[in-house]
Amino acid sequence: MSMMQNFVGWIDDRFPMTKVWNEHLAQYYAPKNFNFWYFMGSLAMLTLVLQIFTGVWLAMSYKPDAEMAFGSVEYIMRDVNWGWLIRYMHSTGASAFFIVIYLHMFRGLMYGSYRKPRELLWIIGVIIYLAMMATAFMGYLLPWGQMSYWGAQVIVNLFSAFPVIGPELGVWIRGDYVISDVTLNRFFALHFLLPFVLAALVFVHIVALHKVGSNNPDGIEIKKGPKGNRWSDTAPADGIPFHPYYSVKDIAGIAGFLFLFAAVIFYAPEMGGYFIEHPNFEPANPLKTPDHIAPVWYFTPFYAILRAVPSLMGSAFPGVVAMFGSILVMFFLPWLDKSPVKSIRYKGTLYKTILWLFVVDFIILGYLGTQPTTDLYIIMAQIGTIYYFAFFLLMPIYSKMDKTKPVPERVTE
Ligand code: HEM
Repeated sequence: MSMMQNFVGWIDDRFPMTKVWNEHLAQYYAPKNFNFWYFMGSLAMLTLVLQIFTGVWLAMSYKPDAEMAFGSVEYIMRDVNWGWLIRYMHSTGASAFFIVIYLHMFRGLMYGSYRKPRELLWIIGVIIYLAMMATAFMGYLLPWGQMSYWGAQVIVNLFSAFPVIGPELGVWIRGDYVISDVTLNRFFALHFLLPFVLAALVFVHIVALHKVGSNNPDGIEIKKGPKGNRWSDTAPADGIPFHPYYSVKDIAGIAGFLFLFAAVIFYAPEMGGYFIEHPNFEPANPLKTPDHIAPVWYFTPFYAILRAVPSLMGSAFPGVVAMFGSILVMFFLPWLDKSPVKSIRYKGTLYKTILWLFVVDFIILGYLGTQPTTDLYIIMAQIGTIYYFAFFLLMPIYSKMDKTKPVPERVTE
């Protein structure tokens, strides 16, 4: 036995290293027909790791103090060695993370990956999405620019719109009557903590995934199909070992992603005000409300829904309910889809049209959320909101009416 084998054996007697490697990589059989959309899971893991690393390095020079925060970010940009790169990686990374996750979730929608037996995997995903939103929201306050300050003011005020407990709740979240130094300090602490909670949730997400196995673009269960392939007599016939086949494929995805990521960081880190909003180059001023307050693009579809719902007796509560409802409804998706088939490939024209219109609707709502409200935009956002909820709530009906195609026995190439 070589020294290396001796060493691995020594570890294996004390820790299940080879066992885990085999069960989750070298002898983990994933469907052989993964396509572009299946890059997003590994890219989401990459972006999470990038955010944690760049975030920790930013924290080494950042000051969570209302008097110093804005200046400390400028100091990182100008004086800290490579500080500009670390900061732009982090700010661009936040948007990249959401782009990747939206594509990841959309893949789930297309291929019915939320359906039995993956309901819990999907639910853990929605919890991850909520945790990501909380992390990004608190992170955006930290540079203490005008939009950081006023954006946080608007969003925390939403909690104050809750009946009875609202006003107390707002003060409890802020630690003050307005967004202040206290708020900044606690948002920094939580913004540092939450990515590690996210990492733990991702671990649980992967455990759930490996229990049930991946879905695939055909939406058929390879575990239920014939057994035996050239690696194993008991593995699903349409499965290939994750390592080296998908580990290598994922590296190709990572390379492609990093090209695009670098291009944005070097040439358009603010992305025309979409990744870093223009008012955020001005220090927070509690005495001067910006003309137009809008969150970063990844929140704007929900912001549009919030503004679309008229207030009731002067209270924004109905809009708040609609906004939270638009995310919470995602939890129920596994039970709303009644189609006999999972994948979009075998669904009919009705379902396909409704799904693509949902994408268009989400993008339009996202755009409306970035714009100041006008009468026309409010009406458009109201129609968009109705469509958004109809997509989910009427799914039990239209997914049953839809004329589906026959599903193949084995995955197609
Ligand atoms: C930090 C965020 C996340 C990470 C790192 C992550 C990671 C992964 C990975 C590595 C996979 C397997 C590879 C792949 O199928 O692409 C996966 C699968 C999956 N994820 Fe996520 N995920 C995240 C967030 C989410 C969210 C927000 C949802 C949905 C709300 C979700 C739903 C799913 C589903 C349904 C699958 C199985 C897909 C299939 O087999 O077709 N994930 N995830």
